[in-house]
Amino acid sequence: MASSSISALSLLIFTLLSLSSPLQTLSAASVIEDLNNLHPPPDFNTTISNNCKTNPSLKYCINFNPLNLPEIFKFTIVASHLCNESRNPNCVVSFPAINLQNRPKIAPLYLSFDFFWKYCPLTVSSIDLSNNSLKGNFPSDVFYCSQIQSLDLSQNHFSGEIPIQNFSVFTNLTFLNLSYNSFSESEISDSDELFKRFNASSFIHSGIIPDKRKFKIKALLFLTGFPVCVFLLVIFLWWICFSRPDFLPKFLRKKHKFTPSILKAATNGFSKKNLVAKSEGVRIYRGVLRDGTEIRIETYFDKIKFSREKRKDFVEECKVLVQLCHKNLVQVLGWCDNRRLRAVVTEWIEGESVEMWISRLDPPWKHRVKVLTKVVEGMMYLQEEWPGVGYDLKSSSILLSENREPLISRFRVEDESSCNKKVYKFGVLLLEMVTNRNPREEFEREEAGFVEWVRMHFPENMCSLIDEKKKRAEHMLDQATRSIELGLMCTDMSRGMQPRLDQIFEKLTAIYISILASASPDRKRVHGDRATGHRHIQSR
Ligand SMILES: *[C@@H]1O[C@H](CO)[C@@H](O)[C@H](O)[C@H]1NC(C)=O
Ligand SMILES: *[C@@H]1O[C@H](CO)[C@@H](O)[C@H](O)[C@H]1NC(C)=O
Ligand SMILES: *[C@@H]1O[C@H](CO)[C@@H](O)[C@H](O)[C@H]1NC(C)=O
Ligand SMILES: *[C@@H]1O[C@H](CO)[C@@H](O)[C@H](O)[C@H]1NC(C)=O
Ligand SMILES: *[C@@H]1O[C@H](CO)[C@@H](O)[C@H](O)[C@H]1NC(C)=O
Ligand SMILES: *[C@@H]1O[C@H](CO)[C@@H](O)[C@H](O)[C@H]1NC(C)=O
Ligand SMILES: *[C@@H]1O[C@H](CO)[C@@H](O)[C@H](O)[C@H]1NC(C)=O
Repeated sequence: MASSSISALSLLIFTLLSLSSPLQTLSAASVIEDLNNLHPPPDFNTTISNNCKTNPSLKYCINFNPLNLPEIFKFTIVASHLCNESRNPNCVVSFPAINLQNRPKIAPLYLSFDFFWKYCPLTVSSIDLSNNSLKGNFPSDVFYCSQIQSLDLSQNHFSGEIPIQNFSVFTNLTFLNLSYNSFSESEISDSDELFKRFNASSFIHSGIIPDKRKFKIKALLFLTGFPVCVFLLVIFLWWICFSRPDFLPKFLRKKHKFTPSILKAATNGFSKKNLVAKSEGVRIYRGVLRDGTEIRIETYFDKIKFSREKRKDFVEECKVLVQLCHKNLVQVLGWCDNRRLRAVVTEWIEGESVEMWISRLDPPWKHRVKVLTKVVEGMMYLQEEWPGVGYDLKSSSILLSENREPLISRFRVEDESSCNKKVYKFGVLLLEMVTNRNPREEFEREEAGFVEWVRMHFPENMCSLIDEKKKRAEHMLDQATRSIELGLMCTDMSRGMQPRLDQIFEKLTAIYISILASASPDRKRVHGDRATGHRHIQSR
């Protein structure tokens, strides 16, 4: 029966091959050309009927329908082309194999001819479509060739599920290769014939069978990776909470608390470039926080580790300092309290110290007095609101912002220095600003020596007390005299004669107003008054 079907097909193909000359040069283009141009011969009807009579097992004979004649004709065209393309030795006699290995250009074309596969010649016993970069789902049309013994679809890009159940039609299949494709992983159950009939070498890297080695590697990666990830996460969280809380969102951060790492990052690792001042045990750095805020960091280095007691005091102190808020006080932003590092962080003031300002610019009187009144304002705020807070009232530690706003810095909590002492210090500052002398550099007993020196020359020798340039303007002399008087009152601690801060403020304001007046257009009259006053002082 098989031999008769072969002869029937052969006959048909032979008929076709002898039909027209274009078939002599077979190619992908010619098969399409033939499909478009060839038409069933007038006796095709008869030929087919005869074929079916002699061999009813021909596929097109089963449920033969005359309406299918054009399709059957097309099938015969494709069959003859494909047989030859598959390099079968004698296509006139038989068509045993569809072999399109390494034919990526024509393989997809032949796969697309459904009408061919529908009537798949029963003579075909092997199909090889390997190594063609074929895409898409499993080519289900091959199931029409249920008689095949060998199927090779390896080295393509097929994807999706493979229809495992349909493989049962391949009762005579002895060779299968689906390796090197991208099929979806299939759930393999024991009832699947397919995996009993063919071993793993048919499914290498096909995607169908989960790769055991890959799975092992995945499992290993997971088993080691998970704890490592957890460990790293814990380390990361620990780091962020205890070392760099500035990476946390604002509401999670502890206000005012700075860690050594934050300060280190802000100052490029406490680099020399960021060091702005240095004295015994204290180093002052300029830094930039992550949010761009410029800060001034006062770090304290002690040789011995800070005791618990000492650290507690320090924190308590800083907790007070961050609450200070006045336009003439440097704003304390926070602190760092660590076994290795203690630091107070304040806002960065772009500007200079009053000491530098005086020596660099020799500012006019008016400005000096204005700065002094503002210092008193800051002092008054502290006395009223925070009497326990002390501060360093030196021309070198009072900072001057760019808009000439003086800012008291370097605070000390639970300062023993009394109010009197603070007024004394202010007196020294005032005298310093009038005389343009530096008490800490030019005098042997520093401030005390300086005050003594002023007292010695006042008022008889005013000229040696004040600056050459200032002497020229006579009204200046009067204001200078009044200022020195005030300064000496402040530094006079012996007789309890020190003025209160509000009194100092009033006096300074009065001096400031008189300076403004003497600088105004009707300065002549005022000038005259001052001149008299001056003469009075001189004659005393
Ligand atoms: C079949 O193909 C071969 C090349 O594989 C070619 O030499 C031969 O002429 C073809 N036969 C027919 C009948 O087209
Ligand atoms: C040929 O086809 C016609 C219809 O086109 C049909 O009536 C006739 O029976 C067919 N002949 C044979 C021999 O099958
Ligand atoms: C697969 O085809 C490529 C070219 O398309 C070729 O280089 C390679 O040798 C072929 N592999 C096999 C196993 O035939
Ligand atoms: C399998 O081979 C046997 C014997 O060669 C044959 O009888 C049977 O029809 C074949 N099965 C299919 C599905 O072609
Ligand atoms: C595959 O099998 C299903 C039933 O399991 C059937 O409905 C379908 O027609 C089959 N497909 C082919 C191409 O044989
Ligand atoms: C898989 O089966 C083939 C025969 O189909 C055999 O040659 C080969 O050795 C088998 N491989 C393994 C790993 O069992
Ligand atoms: C299937 O093909 C691949 C690659 O072409 C090959 O390594 C493998 O041995 C083949 N499997 C069988 C069962 O021949």
